[in-house]
Amino acid sequence: MKILVTGGAGYIGSHTCIALLNAGFTPIVFDNLSNSSTIALDRVTEITGKKITFIKGDVRDAEALDKVFNQHDIYAVIHFAGLKAVGESVEKPILYYDNNVSGSINLFSAMERNKITRVIFSSSATVYGDPATVPITEDFPTSTTNPYGGSKLIIEEVLRNIYTAHPEWNIALLRYFNPVGAHESGLIGEDPSDIPNNLMPYIAGVAVGKLKQLSVFGGDYDTIDGTGVRDYIHVVDLAKGHVKALQAFENKSVDNLYTVNLGTGKGYSVLEMVEAFKKASGKDIAYTITARRAGDIACCYADPSYAKHLIGWEANKGLQAMCDDTWKWQSNNPNGYKEVSNN
Ligand code: NAD
Ligand code: UD1
Repeated sequence: MKILVTGGAGYIGSHTCIALLNAGFTPIVFDNLSNSSTIALDRVTEITGKKITFIKGDVRDAEALDKVFNQHDIYAVIHFAGLKAVGESVEKPILYYDNNVSGSINLFSAMERNKITRVIFSSSATVYGDPATVPITEDFPTSTTNPYGGSKLIIEEVLRNIYTAHPEWNIALLRYFNPVGAHESGLIGEDPSDIPNNLMPYIAGVAVGKLKQLSVFGGDYDTIDGTGVRDYIHVVDLAKGHVKALQAFENKSVDNLYTVNLGTGKGYSVLEMVEAFKKASGKDIAYTITARRAGDIACCYADPSYAKHLIGWEANKGLQAMCDDTWKWQSNNPNGYKEVSNN
């Protein structure tokens, strides 16, 4: 069964291609490579022994999408394509709404034209804003403080409206918590194009000697040690969630529209992450506690029980594997997918 994977060359997409291939699906990757490299897909082939069909294209290009849907008998779409840097979204809101929202609407209209009615969408825990309590269940109120989060909320709403008009569509809204880690081979992983915004790639950059020290954003939160707490989830577990979501469509075991959290249910503080990474890498991680980052919240972790109940998915990999695998990827590929410069 062919699955169109938009954004499939990216961090979560490339890991999901492996999970799809292992489960007997055929991913067709459609990506404009704005934040990724085809080397990731070559590595997926190295890991699985299977070649992947890759189409370079933009989800805002209706003709390109029609061509893919005409050429391939697509069972479902997994829609990862999007921009994801919160800070950049505040500076470039039009770019974010155009790429993420207009791109998604263009994709859904191409699906409608071509009678493709199954879609899995990458949403985010960011849609819960600053939750009143933890753990977070799917019925918590949603809100947003930045255009990135705004784009996720709008796309979720568009999909709910599509379902109202076309209840025969199968739509899964997957709300990811904090994806980290890498494939256990160390061949693929997260490859930020610039200085990382997110914690795990930043810590890994310090451990490998590319970055000097970590700034810990805030030491005065009401948490176990004053630093922010998040639900980190291994990207390989997250990738498998997409296969479970597809299989739930196939088995008709779910409502035609559903929303689930993909998290572990466990929160770790920034300092706990630093300690765990030190242990995994054997390297010292220099850090200094600085002011809080604007827009950050104290604590965020999922109640993942609905995903287990509904689609039979739960995370299996713990913090040690998240750090070990990130370290393997980072130490084997200090420059990510970029070729090592001789200068
Ligand atoms: P990523 O940047 O590694 O992957 C996104 C991919 O989409 C990239 O390969 C990029 O080139 C491609 N892309 C972007 N705009 C495109 C367009 N207009 N047309 C075609 N391709 C386009 O990011 P990721 O971490 O793999 O995230 C995948 C999805 O999951 C995104 O939608 C992101 O918002 C969402 N998400 C990510 C996280 C996270 O922390 N990584 C958390 C929650 C949700
Ligand atoms: C961020 C985004 C969120 C997005 C998620 C996944 C913000 C405000 N939120 O979430 O919308 O869905 O990424 O892409 O950007 N930290 C440091 N030092 C650093 C980096 C992070 O102390 O250099 C801390 C943060 O304050 C936080 C924790 O580490 O407590 C995790 O941060 P990060 O990895 O950026 O993820 P989120 O902020 O949870």
